[in-house]
Amino acid sequence: MTIKTKIFRYHPDKDKKGKLVEYSVRMEEGMSVLALLHQVHDEQDGTLAYRYSCRGAICGTCAVMINGVPRLACKTQVSKILDEADAITIEPLAHYGVIKDLVVDKRPFWQAVQATMPWLVREKELPDERLNYEASMSKMDLDQLNRSSDCIKCSCCHAGCPKVDEMPEFIGPAISIQISKQMFDPRDRNFEHRKQISAAPNGVFACDKHAVCVKVCPKDCRPLRAITFIQNRIK
Ligand code: SF4
Ligand code: SF4
Ligand code: FES
Repeated sequence: MTIKTKIFRYHPDKDKKGKLVEYSVRMEEGMSVLALLHQVHDEQDGTLAYRYSCRGAICGTCAVMINGVPRLACKTQVSKILDEADAITIEPLAHYGVIKDLVVDKRPFWQAVQATMPWLVREKELPDERLNYEASMSKMDLDQLNRSSDCIKCSCCHAGCPKVDEMPEFIGPAISIQISKQMFDPRDRNFEHRKQISAAPNGVFACDKHAVCVKVCPKDCRPLRAITFIQNRIK
């Protein structure tokens, strides 16, 4: 069986703007969208640019828009998409500049992650290793901390967030998840810095609670819940 797929193509040296190009792809059993991209790249056009690494929903690099929804190409089955629609359209992740074809510039995202100081800040290291890691926390906080730690920084939630369309400077769900990781860790001593970023005009209170971020997250990190937890912690 052959299926029609449209893929966004853009070459920064040749094109003023990108366009969708149609390809016929040989459907294979259990085929992922990433495998589809490999087939186009290997058999039809070796210049197609796209990112991937782990192929197992761990590295977060293969995120693209598939029929308008941000998803991991390696985790998304072509058959599932064809159950929802007649055709497949693959475009670069929304809310980022395009470098080439499906490759986006995530430097603003990584700079924002860096600004959160994404590591534990300790008052002092205690001499006893066991004491160093002893701290109490509520079950709910622990659950969200674990979910936040599962984040693979794919930015699907950021790409799907309607608030970012309206307010591009909104901190967004992926950065909020990052902040929650340290804010809900009782060992961290950098609460004021995390609060300052979260409470800024573009911070967590700008969230409109659409919950699109929850629906599109491939790791069930529940970004809206992390945002709500942060709001309650800093209000
Ligand atoms: S709940 Fe907030 S962060 Fe999530 S999609 Fe809506 S506006 Fe964006
Ligand atoms: S919260 Fe989910 S969707 Fe957002 S960056 Fe992390 S893993 Fe990706
Ligand atoms: S290739 Fe690593 S998440 Fe898809």
